[in-house]
Amino acid sequence: MEKYPGKKNIAVLISGRGSNLKSLIKYSKEKKSLFKILLVISNNVDAEGLKYASKYKIKNYGIKYKNKLNFENQSLKILKKNNVDMLCLAGFMKILSGNFIKKFSKPILNIHPSLLPKYKGLNTHERAIKNKDKFAGATIHEVTQKLDSGKVILQKKVRIFKSDNSRNLKKKVLKIEHKIYAKAINMFLANL
Ligand code: GRF
Repeated sequence: MEKYPGKKNIAVLISGRGSNLKSLIKYSKEKKSLFKILLVISNNVDAEGLKYASKYKIKNYGIKYKNKLNFENQSLKILKKNNVDMLCLAGFMKILSGNFIKKFSKPILNIHPSLLPKYKGLNTHERAIKNKDKFAGATIHEVTQKLDSGKVILQKKVRIFKSDNSRNLKKKVLKIEHKIYAKAINMFLANL
């Protein structure tokens, strides 16, 4: 019998530490969660996050990254074989091709450490500090072919103080990331 009947099957793509993955796993075990994490894929065979997945007995695949096409084809095979309903990128540091997005043909969400549309791409905290912004934050958005530009599902702000630097701002934003990602997935699934 299915362990979590009625819940959507989610796959998570990671590249490293996996602290967001950890918070998603935790939430997915709660009754209110509309999803279960079926499997985890990483483009980095040494990703710490793969160890969390194993610890929680979640199927996980470290794919040795040769090139985008090879990685994406291997991932697609795994996703299709396992009937994954949705893909969530959590600290996944590669850009998915339009071809992958089309072929997967199911929703893909991403977490980005800025208040999009501000600061797409990398070094978001450094840029916010340099521009003397009053707020930073995190955004959960749909993944489309245009980088960090899909529909925003949920966003949360954090105040930047004069005493902040990019290192501690990163920590503050990460705390928020851990709070909102699972919530955003639930919101998204509730509205499907
Ligand atoms: C997070 O800040 C995420 O927003 C960014 O990379 C970081 C990954 O952290 N894209 P973790 O692997 O989830 O700990």
